[in-house]
Amino acid sequence: MPIRVMTVYGTRPEAIKCAPVVKALAESPDFAGITVVTGQHREMLDQVNELFGIVPDHDLDVMSHGQSLSGIFARVLAGLDPVLEAERPDAVIVQGDTTTSTAAAVAAFYRQIPVVHLEAGLRSGDLDSPFPEEGNRKLTSQIASLHLAPTTTSRDNLLAEGVPAERIVVTGNTVIDALLETVAKRVPFADPALAEAVDVGRRLLVVTTHRRENWGGAMEGVGRAIARIAREHPDLLVVLPAHRNPVVREAVLPALDGVANVVVTEPLPYGEFSRLMAEAHLILSDSGGVQEEAPSLGTPVLVMRDTTERPEAVVAGTVRLVGTDEERIVDEVTRLLRDPAAHAAMAAGVNPYGDGTAARRSLVALRGLRSGRPGSGPDAGARP
Ligand code: UD1
Ligand code: UDP
Repeated sequence: MPIRVMTVYGTRPEAIKCAPVVKALAESPDFAGITVVTGQHREMLDQVNELFGIVPDHDLDVMSHGQSLSGIFARVLAGLDPVLEAERPDAVIVQGDTTTSTAAAVAAFYRQIPVVHLEAGLRSGDLDSPFPEEGNRKLTSQIASLHLAPTTTSRDNLLAEGVPAERIVVTGNTVIDALLETVAKRVPFADPALAEAVDVGRRLLVVTTHRRENWGGAMEGVGRAIARIAREHPDLLVVLPAHRNPVVREAVLPALDGVANVVVTEPLPYGEFSRLMAEAHLILSDSGGVQEEAPSLGTPVLVMRDTTERPEAVVAGTVRLVGTDEERIVDEVTRLLRDPAAHAAMAAGVNPYGDGTAARRSLVALRGLRSGRPGSGPDAGARP
């Protein structure tokens, strides 16, 4: 009998990071995969499922505009419980630190179904940043039966909190699996301005922003900083695929109105966005996933946050924390635009997040669920 493994996800980054696992489960005779989306995101989630050819078995369709954290949590909990009752999976995989992820973990835990936490053990050490993600992932760690840690740093965080070593397996981050597969396709850009800029080798500054703790004044400052940088460097093309959240758009976009060398797009399909990251001269972002992906592509990232739960690339030198102060952002971007040696030093950093085999390693760890021995030590046993 195959092991019945349900994967639950709801937002764009979870979808990207779960896709390699969903695919690996579907390809393995040892498993029967069940895919559930909560629909915490709608368009941004569907875009990813479409790219990877995933048709979910269940869609809780919870998204509403202006949704609250408790509202998401309550709808996921209430929506998932009957699905768990009907499907009776042997294990439930949740990914990362979104509200979908923690609510799904709680729903499975309440039905005494083992929770497998993909991308376990990330810690910023600050409950307020990122908010609510640091709290979400710590809650999930309390009730998970198997912790799939992307790096030895995340494994050590879990060990320090008392998680038994045999419940942790270091797998690498599945985002690298998704990225390597997707970027290799070199998909064309639909937007003619992007296609032309890449064709002629124009310098690109790619910007993404959405973090909840940056909403409001900090994000308005980010908008002003981008406008100043663009005006100061007319040779540069700034590309900002805008998050669908209206709160984000209202804060960041007004300052960019009428700035000729800023292109604001809808969220780009992952194929185009991954290629854009590879072609970019520099990325300015508060995204978690982008911090993991860009080092694999040799593109420096300035992170608009004061803390990060992803210290590995900072240590490797590819990623630098610059906070959200307008002046500091302008200074740090300007330095990298004007100083080729400083840029080259960051671009030469190594990628600490994986080699594209994290999904296969995760499946090896999952096989142990049947025997009651899910992991076999901090980084052993998960060889593909
Ligand atoms: C969520 C996650 C965050 C993750 C981010 C990735 C939580 C608490 N937050 O934050 O951890 O980093 O996703 O992007 O789980 N919207 C749409 N269409 C979409 C997606 C969003 O219209 O496809 C709008 C809706 O109005 C929605 C709002 O954006 O109410 C906010 O979405 P939500 O998932 O609550 O928060 P994010 O900031 O996206
Ligand atoms: N991404 C994308 N299209 C875009 C912007 C980002 O496909 O227009 C991808 C990006 O490559 C990364 C993920 O979305 O894999 C990150 O999502 P987000 O920044 O929304 O969430 P976070 O990683 O911060 O939780």
